[in-house]
Amino acid sequence: MRTIMTLMVACIACSEAAAQPCTFDESTAKDATSGTITLPWRTDYPSSTGPDPHPWSAIDFKAQWREYLAAVLSTIKSAGFRIENSKIAMNPGHRWWIAHWMDYGPAGRESMNGLTKERAPHAGDLSQGSPSGAQLWAIGWYNSWGAIRLRTVFANKCNPQMSNGQVFRQHTVSFKTLFTDADPADVPYLQGSPTITAMIDAPGVTGNSNPANRQPRQLRLLQIDIAVRDNRATDTRWVFGTYVWKGPPTGDGLFDNLVPVGLHWGNDPGNVGTQMTEGRVNPDLAGILFDRPGRAWMGFRGRVNGPADNKFSACLSCHGASQWPRSPRGIVVSGNVGTDPGDIQTHVNDYFKNIKGGQLFDAQVQGATALDYSLQLEAAFTRMCTACQTGALVGKTPNLCHKNPRFDNLGVNCNLKPDRNRPAPLPLDILDQPLPRQ
Ligand code: HEC
Repeated sequence: MRTIMTLMVACIACSEAAAQPCTFDESTAKDATSGTITLPWRTDYPSSTGPDPHPWSAIDFKAQWREYLAAVLSTIKSAGFRIENSKIAMNPGHRWWIAHWMDYGPAGRESMNGLTKERAPHAGDLSQGSPSGAQLWAIGWYNSWGAIRLRTVFANKCNPQMSNGQVFRQHTVSFKTLFTDADPADVPYLQGSPTITAMIDAPGVTGNSNPANRQPRQLRLLQIDIAVRDNRATDTRWVFGTYVWKGPPTGDGLFDNLVPVGLHWGNDPGNVGTQMTEGRVNPDLAGILFDRPGRAWMGFRGRVNGPADNKFSACLSCHGASQWPRSPRGIVVSGNVGTDPGDIQTHVNDYFKNIKGGQLFDAQVQGATALDYSLQLEAAFTRMCTACQTGALVGKTPNLCHKNPRFDNLGVNCNLKPDRNRPAPLPLDILDQPLPRQ
């Protein structure tokens, strides 16, 4: 019976794939000289987890938050994660997978490491007196528990599926490494941080820019983000935490320099004070990352966030808002929140709810699908539908695009690009859109 079921599922997937082919030749991850994608990262999503260990699940994240994070980090380290010859590397056969469809448009994956472009840190975000103008590039992977979900979502790459109620499995981990071109002279704790070379935008370009103008430049490791689906976090089902790379270099210069910044399992809904109970922030980093001029806290009023992040937000608040289509409120407030108690209250009410993984942040949005805290899925779908709009994607319009009013000009088939021999022009408004992780 079991075999028959498996066969049936496999057949549904193949007949669907046959029914909806597509072509996409404008990946930003293509190597400029060879014209092919040479990234070493896996997209052969697994159908089972095998014996992959999940040592964090034996640790109480509230009582031992650092140990919990360290246990997750140990599974990244044992995959051989390292920086070698100015590139990110992992051991052959490692069990981490990246998401499809992140490789299109101005923020799309670059060709040397697969990084995507994210929000540029504002002046004072990274360290006291750090100027604006630095770029931020990142890449995230999912472990086998997470990649099993990616396998069903992307069973047909030309027509991804995600429906309400589909969630990531218990023990899913995603980790993301964040790199910046900030000058270590401005961010002293980054002096000696591991460097990579990546195909990124020219110095000072902090917004969206045409990917054709990218150039190989140096970035340094800043932050490693960790997200874990853990049902013991009863209000959210997710635990999020992060590390900062802090010099001077010691030991292996990579893992031995990672200092835990914080970990949280809830947003502290309604709490307008500055003492949070549903998370921990490392007090040793006070005066360096927060509690200093320019940045009073990591995440809003003492919630958890990383140095690269918007201080008016927090990990879980932004990720809990992942849904397709997005709420008109977005995933984060645009602009600053002042000190007026009424404004603070409204902001907390609007963004710091505890959303259970798989439920909608904004159920008022008609026909919305919850994406269970994955903003990569949201970014991937947005990029895919944009490619369908520009004509970079040739084929039937993926069903998901029809569910998002932002793409309501699409018919049964993706638009045809004006000139078959040239790259599709980017949509006129795309260069003005905010980068992910605003
Ligand atoms: C202001 C919004 C925002 C905040 C705050 C934020 N993120 Fe994200 N995060 C994003 C977006 C958008 C993406 C997907 C885009 C990308 O990866 O390029 C993402 C991707 C990720 C991923 C890859 C998997 C996924 O869920 O998409 C991880 C892991 C992650 N973030 C962890 C964290 C952690 C840990 C924190 C806090 C320290 C954090 N994030 C704070 C917006 C945010």
